[in-house]
Amino acid sequence: MHQTLKALYHRSIPPEIRYPIGRLRRAGLDTLRRLSSSGPLPPRDLLQFVQMTPWVDEYLRVGKLSHGAVCRVFEEHGLDTTREVRILDFGCGLGRTLRFFRDDPRRLCGCDIDSRLVDWTRRAFPTMDIRLSSTAPPLPWEASHFDGLFAISVFTHFDVDQQRAWAEEAYRLLAPGGLVAMTTMGPHALGGFPNLANDANRRELLENGFFFHRGGSAFNANGAFHTAEGIRRFFGPLFELESWTEGGLDGFQDLSVLRRRSEP
Ligand SMILES: C[S@@+](CC[C@H](N)C(=O)[O-])C[C@H]1O[C@@H](n2cnc3c(N)ncnc32)[C@H](O)[C@@H]1O
Repeated sequence: MHQTLKALYHRSIPPEIRYPIGRLRRAGLDTLRRLSSSGPLPPRDLLQFVQMTPWVDEYLRVGKLSHGAVCRVFEEHGLDTTREVRILDFGCGLGRTLRFFRDDPRRLCGCDIDSRLVDWTRRAFPTMDIRLSSTAPPLPWEASHFDGLFAISVFTHFDVDQQRAWAEEAYRLLAPGGLVAMTTMGPHALGGFPNLANDANRRELLENGFFFHRGGSAFNANGAFHTAEGIRRFFGPLFELESWTEGGLDGFQDLSVLRRRSEP
């Protein structure tokens, strides 16, 4: 019955009326969600910038998912979370993942290159060490400072030189044996981009382990795709790829765990 009414609505109301109504409804639900949520929530314009939708539901859902995935793999790979381990969220944005670490014994740090995001996140989570960083290494922490580093949807936008440079910086920042948990997009995710999912790009990804699409000057306009072999290509000399799980974050982005070698 519900489906029939929905189909009727779609057939009888033209899109130029349906879309504004749908957006109003979505905005109303978002306002309700904001009123019923605890803790600070970012403004819609900043959310739109970081996650491509202004809705707080998406922010909370993906943040919770990412926090769960990061904690799980760190623990599976032996990062002892009962100690006060030091963890960095590289490219922390609006603290979407970090916020779920509140009240956690782990020492949390985050960095991002965007001052609007850093200002908001720093104010929202004052017990965490959130710093503005540069588009090129080094980050403002000393060598071997961290036991773990995670990066959600960050290496998914870096070109070849940036992949190398940030793999080297992760090596500098982590203590020997420290872990990186990071998400990447693989052959499966490439299929989700109709403008990129052609035979030539797929072949490049499979043969080189890496494919990069420069879509514009904005960070989010660029897309980087890796196979597990591609991850080894950038991280391999410095890290052991201990696991690579296709769709391991959310069924779309892959999740890798890398361990810092003692010597390069
Ligand atoms: C797609 S967003 C993801 C943000 C966050 N990780 C999350 O899951 O909500 C990518 C973030 O990486 C940041 N970023 C891009 N290049 C960076 C760099 N070189 N160092 C640190 N952050 C960077 C962007 O400003 C942006 O906030």
